[in-house]
Amino acid sequence: MDKTKRKAIIAGNWKMNKTPSEAKALLTDIIPAVKDADCEVIACVPYVDLSVALEVTKGTNVKIGAENCHWAESGAFTGEISTGMLKEMGVEYVVLGHSERRQYFGETDETVNKRTKAALAAGLKPIVCVGELLWERECDITEEVIARQIKLDLFDVCAEDVKKTVIAYEPVWAIGTGKTATAEQAEEVCAFIRATLAKLYSEEVAQAVTIQYGGSMNNSNADELLSKTNVDGGLIGGASLVAEKFAAIVKAASK
Ligand code: PGA
Repeated sequence: MDKTKRKAIIAGNWKMNKTPSEAKALLTDIIPAVKDADCEVIACVPYVDLSVALEVTKGTNVKIGAENCHWAESGAFTGEISTGMLKEMGVEYVVLGHSERRQYFGETDETVNKRTKAALAAGLKPIVCVGELLWERECDITEEVIARQIKLDLFDVCAEDVKKTVIAYEPVWAIGTGKTATAEQAEEVCAFIRATLAKLYSEEVAQAVTIQYGGSMNNSNADELLSKTNVDGGLIGGASLVAEKFAAIVKAASK
């Protein structure tokens, strides 16, 4: 993390967990535990929890994000949620292109790109997830995979908008498996992402972008991962559902 250059961000990704009343209870525990954070703190929650989450976090330093959005303004897309709907509620961030959406719901780089552009146009800050499969790492094509995702997911996104975009590097083999990338592996790919951004945009733009690591990040490994120059924060799944664990990661990012 290099806080002199960019914002450190710890974001919880709750996935399909917590009903509205459970969300209220968890946030009520999280809020006092992270109130002195010296980093941005976000909870990305299921759509049905957004309303209560925004209400409970009002006036606190905890920001709220959604876990997806559609690219169209409105229309015949049963079951989808538009950026305008999220924006009107007061949502600030949106997770896009998570590997679970790519794996289980047919998400492609093309649709991630459309969602990213729509989110930015609406004034939402996207957290765009990229990451290689285990098989791709074993075939030694991690960099090709990541470069392809970055180029496609950010296609036609201007420099000013990229600066508002958070990139989450999430090696698919490390998500929910308890298998964390080593701090060196995380740093290597996060630095590669920054170098790719520098090539596509400029060094100045690349240095401004927050790049998170995600994949079994927890209270025990956060310190080491966040000590790396290019790891500017974390996207936290499992550990974000336990207030003390999430608060400990926020504390590690506040050093
Ligand atoms: P995990 O999930 O922390 O449970 O591995 C991370 C993520 O999917 O964002």
